[in-house]
This record gives sequence, structure tokens and C-alpha cells, in this order.
Amino acid sequence: MPAFSVYICTAALLCIAHDCLSFENQTVNYNETISLKNELNLTLNLTEKATNKPQPAEDHSQGEKNTSDYGKEMKKETTGAKQIKGKINIYFNLLSLSPLDCPPLGLESLRVSDDQLQASSSLSFGLGAHRGRLNIQSGLEDDDEYDGAWCAGTEDQEQWLQLDARRQTLFTGVILQGRNSIWSLNWVRTYKVQFSNDSVLWQPCMNGSKEALFVGNEDLETPVLALFPEPSVARFIRINPQSWYSNGTICLRAEVLGCSLPDPSSPDPPETNRSSDDLDFRHHNYNEMRKTGQYWKTEGKRVSWDGKVSNQQCNTSVQLSTFYTKGAGSYTGLKLYVMEISDSPGKHELGEPEFRYVAGMHGNEVLGRELLLNLMQFLCREYKRGNQRVVQLVKETRIHLLPSMNPDGYETAYEKGSELSGWALGRYSFEGIDMNHNFPDLNNIMWDAQELATDKRRVSNHYIPMPEYYTSTDALIAPETRAVISWMQDIPFVLSANLHGGELVVTYPFDCTRDWIPREDTPTADNDFFRWLAAVYASTNLVMANPERRVCHTEDFQQHNNIINGANWHTVPGSMNDFSYLHTNCFEITVELSCDKFPHAAELPVEWENNKESLLLYMEQVHRGIKGVIRDKDTKAGIANAVIKVDGLDHDIRSAQDGDYWRLLNPGDYKVTVWAEGYFPRIRHCAVGSEPRATLCDFTLTRTTQDRLKQILAKGGKMPRDNQVRIRAMRMRKLRASTKILNRRREQQQRLKVRRK
Ligand SMILES: *[C@@H]1O[C@H](CO)[C@@H](O)[C@H](O)[C@H]1NC(C)=O
Ligand SMILES: *[C@@H]1O[C@H](CO)[C@@H](O)[C@H](O)[C@H]1NC(C)=O
Ligand SMILES: *[C@@H]1O[C@H](CO)[C@@H](O)[C@H](O)[C@H]1NC(C)=O
Ligand SMILES: *[C@@H]1O[C@H](CO)[C@@H](O)[C@H](O)[C@H]1NC(C)=O
Ligand SMILES: *[C@@H]1O[C@H](CO)[C@@H](O)[C@H](O)[C@H]1NC(C)=O
Ligand SMILES: *[C@@H]1O[C@H](CO)[C@@H](O)[C@H](O)[C@H]1NC(C)=O
Ligand SMILES: *[C@@H]1O[C@H](CO)[C@@H](O)[C@H](O)[C@H]1NC(C)=O
Ligand SMILES: *[C@@H]1O[C@H](CO)[C@@H](O)[C@H](O)[C@H]1NC(C)=O
Ligand SMILES: *[C@@H]1O[C@H](CO)[C@@H](O)[C@H](O)[C@H]1NC(C)=O
Ligand SMILES: *[C@@H]1O[C@H](CO)[C@@H](O)[C@H](O)[C@H]1NC(C)=O
Ligand SMILES: [Zn+2]
Repeated sequence: MPAFSVYICTAALLCIAHDCLSFENQTVNYNETISLKNELNLTLNLTEKATNKPQPAEDHSQGEKNTSDYGKEMKKETTGAKQIKGKINIYFNLLSLSPLDCPPLGLESLRVSDDQLQASSSLSFGLGAHRGRLNIQSGLEDDDEYDGAWCAGTEDQEQWLQLDARRQTLFTGVILQGRNSIWSLNWVRTYKVQFSNDSVLWQPCMNGSKEALFVGNEDLETPVLALFPEPSVARFIRINPQSWYSNGTICLRAEVLGCSLPDPSSPDPPETNRSSDDLDFRHHNYNEMRKTGQYWKTEGKRVSWDGKVSNQQCNTSVQLSTFYTKGAGSYTGLKLYVMEISDSPGKHELGEPEFRYVAGMHGNEVLGRELLLNLMQFLCREYKRGNQRVVQLVKETRIHLLPSMNPDGYETAYEKGSELSGWALGRYSFEGIDMNHNFPDLNNIMWDAQELATDKRRVSNHYIPMPEYYTSTDALIAPETRAVISWMQDIPFVLSANLHGGELVVTYPFDCTRDWIPREDTPTADNDFFRWLAAVYASTNLVMANPERRVCHTEDFQQHNNIINGANWHTVPGSMNDFSYLHTNCFEITVELSCDKFPHAAELPVEWENNKESLLLYMEQVHRGIKGVIRDKDTKAGIANAVIKVDGLDHDIRSAQDGDYWRLLNPGDYKVTVWAEGYFPRIRHCAVGSEPRATLCDFTLTRTTQDRLKQILAKGGKMPRDNQVRIRAMRMRKLRASTKILNRRREQQQRLKVRRK
């Protein structure tokens, strides 16, 4: 039984560990499991008295009572509070579960604006108070406009960084971090804290009868939390450095923890529920993600989802299946769960495009994971409610959601929590691999071949097989990457987005420059459509679209309407986007969802609102361009692996197993040639309109004789493409075989480890 205490306050904020909520006239019961917001019928079991807990301020009557007392007190407060707000709000302090009593005020998330931050002095504009934000990143150079901390202009013990919370706030703690820089070492070792209601009269943060002295940093990166022995109510707070790394100067990045209180002098009520949807807004670790629905239980089997939050049976048969070989998954054996949302789950329907969202390839960039879990819940519920837009989308699209491509990395970051995991902890796989550099670099294979070829048109522009070396057991390829490559080949995906965090921008391929240039615009043949895709997301994301927003770290993407060619930002060889485009038919972009890689749970409702329309609208883009079925004229059977070539676009796509194909295109008139081994080519003109509805463009092909085929090839046609398909399939089989061997080896090692223990 964890030790905890309860504060009943008239404050309109209610937090259980990472969760903030509110309720009306209900009994509150808490024992060990965090309950969902709208399932708050619990009874309180206060058997142990918490020790060493913060004293709430005067206007919070503290409850530290046994069960019988509690009921009375609760009733009293309920009535009292109801008269004021119609709601009673309770603030739980669960010492055993989380050191973070109140959420961060948002120096990192940018909820705190630049003009709320001031300092006694600063070394330069780029090291001003507005840069004193947890996890802010500097550019490659120091001493520019965007430096990696606030640094005081003078070295003495009178320097301070000040936050104006703009309303009465219960301040409970501070998180401190050193300066982000590759050139210099600066951090604050110890500091004091002061509070004020008017920024004139200041009161020190006390520790009994003495002024509290907090321990800060010993390196540049690790965030260090200090909870106040005596939390205080005030409007202003100052962080006042007392000692610092001796060869450096006074520099820090900070976050402040606090609960907003009702404030008669402030026009706005404290924010609580900031989403119009009632979804499961919290961080889900691996086990919680599994538990979120019973649907995880059965591997590969079709099960319907009993939406726990809505208590409604979701009849879309949200299918969840693990993919790839059994027992495989992440390095430590966590599974890569994919949720499939479809009106006929488990199978591809002729002509219906396949869509995927992938999140969490960098394990510490966690917002995408939660957005996908929200999206799943939302689609499921709205489908059931008969929301026309959602019904149409689900009926016409097979949707796959992979919330966590790097579950090992996520668990590492999750253990530290949203504020203390720093900037890079959990980014890499368990083996230290960055998955976004881990896909085969097909760009350079294609470009090299083009350079060597006498006739550039003979070089294939799509379905590039992965290199031979990549298929061996020795290749340094993460099991997660292997699993995703296999998945990408199994399903004829048409469109995808890869969700990241730490910036606010949408990038489109190529991600890799030619000739190892650090950054250069490197467009694909489908640049116009990719720019459209990126713009669809960026222009409807509420934060990106806000012209008032400030730069996350150092780069002003707003100049480019928040979209940029990936390679023009920084070159990434072996990215998932480039691989997807060059190895499969699928177009994929990257969305950097938020400045803060690991937003506090309290930010999740508003982040859902920020991204909801973008997530839906982006999926609907899978219905642009042309689609159809390519059939044999005589047998009417679908022809797989037919090449669909659009005049003027140097990137072909292929038909899927049943002969169906999807070619994403902007509005316009197109001359389309379809070619398949053993058939005469066919040409058709297909017109694409501006509505998101693909134009049907079917083809029937007539068989040719072998002689005739050879003639065509001799006349300077391209390299026989089926060869390419054969090599591609053969290498894939090799990759799967080597993966199987690796998995077996890994399982044996794990068994040995267990035995040794
Ligand atoms: C809440 O409690 C008050 C007083 O007991 C009662 O009048 C009111 O109807 C209750 N509201 C709800 C929603 O149960
Ligand atoms: C928590 O409450 C539930 C339901 O009352 C009970 O089954 C469970 O044993 C409790 N857990 C603890 C640790 O007290
Ligand atoms: C919660 O409330 C519902 C209805 O009021 C009741 O059916 C259910 O048993 C309650 N759960 C617990 C754990 O008390
Ligand atoms: C409260 O918790 C204690 C210790 O875990 C347990 O013995 C007791 O039965 C619980 N009481 C209720 C009402 O759940
Ligand atoms: C619990 O409450 C009962 C009744 O109000 C009281 O007699 C008892 O002393 C209380 N116990 C503790 C440990 O406070
Ligand atoms: C600020 O005002 C509140 C409410 O009047 C009071 O409780 C608190 O002690 C004041 N804080 C300081 C630092 O003066
Ligand atoms: C508070 O005082 C205690 C006892 O003197 C000491 O151990 C602790 O380090 C102090 N904490 C702070 C933050 O000053
Ligand atoms: C500070 O710099 C001096 C000389 O550059 C060096 O000898 C000393 O070890 C440094 N001190 C620390 C604490 O790094
Ligand atoms: C948040 O607000 C929406 C709409 O006002 C409501 O449907 C939802 O139930 C609320 N959620 C919570 C947890 O109060
Ligand atoms: C669920 O869908 C099936 C098949 O579409 C239908 O027969 C059944 O009535 C639906 N059930 C509910 C509860 O809507
Ligand atoms: Zn990333």
C-alpha cells in the first residue's frame, strides 16, 4: 500500500500523479492503480500516513485522515466547492508513485511565453532569459541568436531567472539542467528559490527555519529535480544560483512545477479539460498499452475491441495483431503491436488502399505513440456513432497504426518520466541503433547506377532491391528495423507518415543528399505531391499553423510554411522515408509533432486537439490520384507486379498481388503506361480532379509471345523488371532467414541469462 495523502482544495485542478482531472459528487477511491478520468468511483483507503510531504497552502484544507473521517470532510468540501464552481476538485499527492506533484508550467512546452521570463542580466541576447528552458537546443555554433541556456551577465550570487506565472500558483519544485553546447561547459551546482506576489517583495523558499539550498547539476544534460520542502503560493518565482562549475559561468535551463489556482485577479480559469473528446489521455507504457484494450490478448486473431473508456463495444473490429515471427520484436522481446482499423480486418480488399502511421522509432519522442492510441479510440468510437467522415474513411481504407516502433527505448525514457529523461535518453534501440539511419541506403545505389549508365532511362527508378550485404546475420540491423521492412513488403501500403518529436515541422523525401553534402534540397520525382502532403499536415496542425508561435530551438521553419525537404534540413542516409519510396510503392513523410519530445501527460488533451484534424485529413490523402485494377484480357485475372508509369514522372509504381494499384497524383491530366512481363503495354489518359477521390483507371493487357517480348527488349526497353522483382524477393527471403537465426540466438542467450540468475 503506498503512502499518500489527500488535499481537498477549492482549486480547480485535480491531479493523480501525472493525471489531472475533475469530477462531481463522487466518492474517490484510490489504491495503487491509476484510474481513468471518467471512471472515478472509488473508495479511499488511507491506512498509512504519508511522511515528508509538502504542506499545502492555507486555502487548501489538508486531508490526512482515516477512512471514517474522510467521508465527512469530503461531503463538507463538496458542498462548499459546489457553491463556487459546480465542481469539486481534488489534488492527490502520491509520493510513492511520482515525485511530480504538480505538472510543469511549460517552459519546455512553450506554454510559458518568452515575455513571462526575465533575468537579472544576461551574457548576450542568444543567452537571454527566454533561452532558459528545459531541453532547449543550441545550434552548431555558440554565440548566435539561439543559444543553449540562459547565462547571467555577471558572476555573483545575486543573479536570477524569473518566471511570472500570471496567476496564483502553488509552486512545488524546479528542474534544472546545464547549458546545451558542444563548445563550453556551464552548469549551476547549487541554488536558492524565492517567491513573490508582486515581483517587489520576495520571500525565500524555506527548509524549516533555514533558507533552502537546492542541489543542481554536475553535467550539461542530466535534468535534476528539486521538490520544495515547503511549497508556496505566489505569482512569481526566482531561481537564484549560488555556486556553479568553476571553469564555467552561471548558465541554466529550467522547468518549474506548479498547480494553477483560481485567481480573482486573473480573467482565465485554470485550464483543466482541454479537449472536446473524452479519450484516454495519459502516457501508456508497454504493459498499459497492452492493457488498454483486451484486444491485444489474441495474437493474429480477429477480436473486437471493448473500448474501456467509452464502455462501448467497438464494432469496427479493431484488429490488433503482432506482426513478424512469433517471439520476435524488439531486442529485449517486446512486441511491435500494430492496430488495424478496417471494416473487414485481417485482409486486403481489392482496390482499397492501405495506410499506415508509424510512431516512436525514436523511443523518447513519445507524442506520436499517444496520438495513435487516441486516434484508434477516436476512430473506433466515431465509427460506432455513425460519424460520416470516419465511417467513409474506415470503409474505404485499411488503416494500420504502429504506435511504438522502438518499445525498448520508450521504456527507458518512460522510467525517467516526461521531465527527467533529458533530450536523448531512449532515442536509440537497446543495442544503441538509431532506427532512422538503419534502413538500407537505396538512394546512393540508385544514383550510382544512374551515373554509371549510358542510358539513364535504363536504370530502374523504383523497387530498388536492398543490397546483398544487408541480408546477412552480421549486418548491424536492429531487429525492429528488420521487422518493419518485412511488414512494408507484406502489405501494399500506399501512404504513410512517420511521427517524431522535438521540432515542429513536416519533412518530405529525399532525406539523404547526393555526394554526402550536409544539407541540400534533394527532391524526388514526386516532389509536388510530397509538398502537398507535407502542407496538408502542417497547415492544419493548430500549433504549426499559428503565425504567432515561437521557434522551438534554433530554426525558423515558419519561413517555409513549416515544411521542408528532409535532406535540406540535415542529410539522413538510410531513413525509413527514403527506403519506403525507393523499395516499395508507399509515399511517406516525417512529422515532427512538438518542441517537447516527451510532453507531460497534462498536455496530451491539447496535443490531441492540435493534431486531430491533421491526422484525419492526412489519411484521406490516400484517396488522391488514380487507382484501378490491371487484368489479363482473356482470363480477367489480376496481374501482379505490373509497372505503372506516368509520363513526366520518373518514379514508377507496381500493382499489388491481385492486380490493383494506386498512383498518388496531384490534379491534372496524365498519360499512363502499364507494362507487365509477357504482355503488350497499354496506354491510357487519366484525369485527376481536385476532390480527394481517386480516378478509376483500369487496364486490360493482352498477352504477347516470347518472341515479341524479346523484340521489345532488344529495341532498348529497360532492364527486364521482373529480374528486379526477383532479386528484391530473394533478398527479402534472405533477410528473413538471417533474422530468424538471430532471433533464435537471442532467445538462447536470454534463456542462458535467466538460468545463470
Ligand atoms: C451532488 O450533491 C448535491 C448535494 O448532495 C445534490 O444536490 C446534487 O444533486 C448532486 N449532483 C449530482 C450530479 O449527483
Ligand atoms: C485495490 O482495490 C481493489 C478493489 O477494491 C482490490 O481488489 C485490490 O485488492 C486493492 N489493492 C490493494 C493493493 O489494496
Ligand atoms: C463503480 O460504479 C458502478 C456504478 O455506479 C458500479 O457498478 C461499480 O461496481 C463500481 N465499481 C467499483 C470498483 O466500486
Ligand atoms: C485498506 O488497506 C489495508 C492495508 O492494505 C487493508 O488491510 C484494508 O482491508 C483496506 N480497507 C479497505 C476498506 O479497502
Ligand atoms: C479514525 O477516526 C475515528 C472516528 O472518527 C477516530 O475515533 C480515530 O481516532 C481515528 N483514527 C486515527 C488513527 O486518526
Ligand atoms: C501570495 O498571496 C497569497 C494569497 O494572498 C498568499 O497566500 C501567499 O502567501 C502570498 N505569497 C507570497 C510569497 O507573498
Ligand atoms: C533541508 O534540511 C535538511 C535537514 O537539515 C537537509 O538535510 C536538507 O538537505 C535540506 N534541504 C534543502 C533543499 O535545503
Ligand atoms: C579548470 O581549468 C584548469 C585549466 O584549464 C584545469 O587545470 C582544471 O582542472 C579545470 N577545473 C575543472 C574543475 O575542470
Ligand atoms: C472534456 O470535455 C468534453 C466536452 O466538453 C467532454 O465530452 C468530456 O467528457 C470532458 N472530459 C473530462 C475528462 O471531463
Ligand atoms: C457489428 O457488425 C456486425 C457485422 O457488420 C453486425 O452484424 C452486428 O450487428 C454489429 N453489432 C453491433 C453491436 O453493432
Ligand atoms: Zn526523431
